[in-house]
Amino acid sequence: MATIVVGTAELAVQKQFGEHLSRIYKEEAIRRGYDFTYSIRTYGCQLNESDSEKMSGILCSLAFVPDHSDNPDIVIYNTCSIRENARDRLFGNLGLVKEMKKRNPSLIVAVCGCMMKQRENIDKIQKSYPFVDLIFGPQDIHRLPELIHRLRFEEKKVCDVSDTDYMADDMDLPINRSRTFRALVPIMFGCNNFCTYCVVPYTRGRERSRPFDLIMKEISDLALGGYKEILLLGQNVNSYGRDLKDAPDFADLLEAVANTKNLSRVRYMTSHPKDLSDHLIDIVAKYPVIEKHLHLPLQSGSDRILEAMNRHYTKEQYLHTARLFRERIPHGTITTDIIVGFPGENEEDFQETLNVMQEVRFDSAFTFQYSVRPGTPAADMDDQISKEVVTERFSRLLDLQNSHSYESNLLAVGETEEILIEGSSATASHILTGRTNNNRLVNFTLPDRSILPDGSLLENGMHVDGDKLEGSLAYVKITGARPYSLEGQLENFIYDQ
Ligand code: 5AD
Ligand code: SF4
Repeated sequence: MATIVVGTAELAVQKQFGEHLSRIYKEEAIRRGYDFTYSIRTYGCQLNESDSEKMSGILCSLAFVPDHSDNPDIVIYNTCSIRENARDRLFGNLGLVKEMKKRNPSLIVAVCGCMMKQRENIDKIQKSYPFVDLIFGPQDIHRLPELIHRLRFEEKKVCDVSDTDYMADDMDLPINRSRTFRALVPIMFGCNNFCTYCVVPYTRGRERSRPFDLIMKEISDLALGGYKEILLLGQNVNSYGRDLKDAPDFADLLEAVANTKNLSRVRYMTSHPKDLSDHLIDIVAKYPVIEKHLHLPLQSGSDRILEAMNRHYTKEQYLHTARLFRERIPHGTITTDIIVGFPGENEEDFQETLNVMQEVRFDSAFTFQYSVRPGTPAADMDDQISKEVVTERFSRLLDLQNSHSYESNLLAVGETEEILIEGSSATASHILTGRTNNNRLVNFTLPDRSILPDGSLLENGMHVDGDKLEGSLAYVKITGARPYSLEGQLENFIYDQ
């Protein structure tokens, strides 16, 4: 697969398609009396969310507005192929779209994202879901204007999945960010690691780092525009820059971002244990603005299984990094990803995983049952583990992790934490929600009288506008712990941000 830097010529072509479409949609919206609307359903990781924000930006530039009535003019499914259940969810949901299409025959149904890089998924859609109009790949997002244009004026159905890795960033794509305080900033695309269970290197292609200057320009613009939290994204952020000439490494990049004025939080994920340097831990420790949290996927605690997974580190090397982080950043949290039931995993291997968990005491973990991904080396390995064994091990692992998560949250009770507010809680609008700077989720109440950051007074019984407080910092006293969140009460807002 060749890496293609999308140049200005290609962008100019897309711009022309876009301008033509936007004229047409604007005229039609006036004629019919209401705007064209879109809905994007995103599965999978934050890189997919970032892609969806770009598609949302492009659709807005074509004169579409977000749909709020469940009756959009275009619906896009941005798919994930990392595990079998994301695939099942897509097919389940596509079945429901058939009804939407019956109600509105001019609805455009589009499917994109990683699943479209696997031919069998496209075949299945074309055979079983013939109402899907548009199929494109994760590398084709910037071509949305051209694809919609072809669908409107030239072809009944469009299926166009590029086979090249492109550099999204030399493109000035409009981005419609879904949060007003948090900006997702991909620093690199793709992955070179070829863990034997994982489809990402096949769907997202080889590692391409964005140029340092472009990333820094984007971040300083975001900070000037009022964004408070930057989340740097990559499948393996620690190998940032290795494919660029004279580029700084990830620790230098993180330091430069931390020195950007007006930011309250700098976050980063995902780290690969084989590439994480001790220097990076020093940088995290040094700058208060960098979150005191490390997401460090373990996958397995058995050296034998780690080797079969092609992870390129041993249990001891992993533990070295975890110990160092705990030592230098005592208030920090470590979270992880663990896969149970990789081919060949025996009870002893599984015990090794539990042993690492007992030693590190992960503050939280994403736990997965191994799922076969067609085309990956592990799919053809002997010794696939039976469902019953995987389920039984998984439940033991989950019990242990739940007890560690709860134990970790209990440690925070009684502390006063700096919280970056994310809005109202999903369950009650008078409860606010936010994160500590070591990435714990906190739901908290306000005292009877508080002065809000804009100087206004909030008294008991008045409505709290969580949206207005998004991105503000506050000190919150932690009063209670649950396995996955904390409870607290506001002490005061931090005005000087
Ligand atoms: N089966 C189960 N879990 C997987 N992951 C990736 N591929 C698979 C698979 N085939 C998990 C890994 C990775 C996380 C994003 O998804 O733990 O870190
Ligand atoms: Fe997949 Fe491994 Fe790359 Fe992570 S590092 S995206 S698990 S291949």
